[in-house]
Amino acid sequence: MGQPKRVALISGASRGIGAATAREMGRRGYHVVVNYRNSAGPAEAVVDAIEQDGGSAQAARADVCDGGQVADLVGKVYAEHGRIDALICNANTVNPSFLPFAEVAWEAFAEKINGELAGVFHLSQRVLAVMREQRSGRIVFISSTAADHIGMAVAHSTAKAALNTFSRHVAGVGAQYGVTVNTVAFGAVRTEASGGAFQEDLEKYLTDRSVLARLVEPEDAARTVALVADDHFGAATGQLIRVDGGFDVLDAQLGRLAGFFS
Ligand SMILES: NC(=O)c1ccc[n+]([C@@H]2O[C@H](COP(=O)([O-])OP(=O)(O)OC[C@H]3O[C@@H](n4cnc5c(N)ncnc54)[C@H](OP(=O)(O)O)[C@@H]3O)[C@@H](O)[C@H]2O)c1
Repeated sequence: MGQPKRVALISGASRGIGAATAREMGRRGYHVVVNYRNSAGPAEAVVDAIEQDGGSAQAARADVCDGGQVADLVGKVYAEHGRIDALICNANTVNPSFLPFAEVAWEAFAEKINGELAGVFHLSQRVLAVMREQRSGRIVFISSTAADHIGMAVAHSTAKAALNTFSRHVAGVGAQYGVTVNTVAFGAVRTEASGGAFQEDLEKYLTDRSVLARLVEPEDAARTVALVADDHFGAATGQLIRVDGGFDVLDAQLGRLAGFFS
């Protein structure tokens, strides 16, 4: 009998960055738990794609903002597999609205902050308890370079900045049990979530300011996340890795997104 498969739990893996990451982790030999909230059909399609690539996976419904549902999800995965080796906190729990501060309602601002943090809080607290027993594990949070962009989308930026700080707290705790915790902050990635915002002129604006002259594709994002979750990255924890097509390099010289959105 071979070694039992390592298990990766990926939140919000029915589409976008999460789906691409699920497929990449499947190719790397993990059994993948493809979490989703509503999209059962697309989640099953991701499972099928992983199986067609020769891997194994299962779809698992849970609203990661709901502590009870997260407890059930993590409990079920652990009962079935006896381990969770990698947790990727990716779910885009509240779509960002691209509104400047003067136009944002408090309710929308609070909803974004609350949704972003609830989705990572419950999952990482529950899974860290499992990893504590195992004395090993990798947690990767998915953030955004928007955390540093003033004037772009105030609620989204503030939520991701809070996530970046939160991730360092989890890293501090996880280190005691041999668990590493890192955060990957992406620039613009072409997914359904960003699709609405990427009119042609914004896409041109973004690619013109990327030294690589391109957006980040979900597959680029997936490979980065898989690398950060890999044991070869095991000497790093509490780190924020920016992947933005080199947008940042020119952005510092040419001015910020504020000019576009305000
Ligand atoms: N796209 C970008 O340009 C970009 C840039 C930087 C960072 N990011 C970050 O990357 C992550 C993924 O973004 P994306 O663009 O790939 O998003 P997306 O295409 O909108 O996909 C979102 C995924 O999250 C799931 N989801 C939403 N709420 C959930 C909940 N409460 N519980 C469980 N699953 C939930 C969705 O499942 P259902 O369909 O079932 O609801 C879906 O699978 C997010 O954290 C986002 O902030 C994205």
